[in-house]
Amino acid sequence: MEVNLDNCSKYFPLLKREVHGKPIIYLDSAATSIRPQSVIDAVVKFYTQYSAGISRAVHILSEEATEAFETSRDRIAHFINADSREIAFMHNATQALNVVAASELKSGLVMHPLSEHHSNLLPWRQGEVMVLPVSTEGRMDVDASKAAIAKYKPKILALSTISNALGVRHPVHELTQAAHSVGARVILDVSQSVGHEVVDMQDLDCDYACFSGHKMFGPNGLGVLYRKEGIANDLEPLIYGGSMVHAVHEADFELRPYPWNLEAGSPNVEAVVGLVAACDFIEEIGLEAIHQHCNTLTQYAREKLSATPGVTLHGAQDKDQSSIISFSVEGTPANGVARILSNRFNIMVRSGYHCAQPLHEACGIPETVRASVHVYNTLQDIEHLVEAVGIVSKMGKQSADGP
Ligand code: ALA
Repeated sequence: MEVNLDNCSKYFPLLKREVHGKPIIYLDSAATSIRPQSVIDAVVKFYTQYSAGISRAVHILSEEATEAFETSRDRIAHFINADSREIAFMHNATQALNVVAASELKSGLVMHPLSEHHSNLLPWRQGEVMVLPVSTEGRMDVDASKAAIAKYKPKILALSTISNALGVRHPVHELTQAAHSVGARVILDVSQSVGHEVVDMQDLDCDYACFSGHKMFGPNGLGVLYRKEGIANDLEPLIYGGSMVHAVHEADFELRPYPWNLEAGSPNVEAVVGLVAACDFIEEIGLEAIHQHCNTLTQYAREKLSATPGVTLHGAQDKDQSSIISFSVEGTPANGVARILSNRFNIMVRSGYHCAQPLHEACGIPETVRASVHVYNTLQDIEHLVEAVGIVSKMGKQSADGP
């Protein structure tokens, strides 16, 4: 049967799980998505049919595994409209950002918005950094940011397409153009966009990009790094070992070119083939349809939650928003809200600073509750969330009012 938005939740086995005899509602896809059966099957097929080390042996299984690994590179590159020579496999997006930072910090001044995930803040702190401010709604000021880029002429601009904490979109096209006009290179963290909407490297026109497979239905432990073919800077490896070299002599060694120079050691082949199944699954449904679906759900959630007494929504509430809903409930700390939603209502959300503490501190926003949707969520899931949050809010008010 063809997979589409009306039937796709049945392809996710985790959604068949019950806790205390009731189904679960999964609203933590910004952290990690759950996996369709086809991704699980691809991983199982690797282990049961051709599990072997790649690029090392000439036996059949190793050759099949090597072939699967390298053709997966083509498929994943195609998914983001890139060339396979531009794609390196990492352990996660964090590693990709660290690899780029380790080489590019030598270039000079780095700019990034305050709203970045810690993984796109901390790697840059070893060098000269200028932070671009955001409003209390988590929005970047396009004109002020462009003016700062023109004035200070950074060598690197690092930013995410969408803030993982508040879900606010960053003006990546405008700022990429501004950065290129002063000769800077641009690295985009597209982790919160990929699998939710079209991510096209030609359209984004960045120099580097990265994302994690596990946020787009792929297995854990796989990050993808894109490095535009032909850019002047070579990326230096952070780790050294087998597979990355042409030859090793007593006194020296000869590295393979990108991407293999960054892929030392035995790679996560099962995650790579699983990610190909994820790309197929996404494309069968269609990225435009996924984008529309997630928008409809988040708009409905925002409308309902903003009308719920005691609930405050955080972040811009307009076209700059994505499929992430950040909120707090008067009288109950975020972790308490998330714990009650989980333990009493089987609703899984994330709470805290979401690895973006400077953003929260600058915007004066406390730790928040974050609900994030994907293809398997329904309007009914949102209705359950809103009803449960309403109950938590009443409980908080009652305990504040006292007996
Ligand atoms: N980056 C992931 C999140 O935002 C872990 O939750």
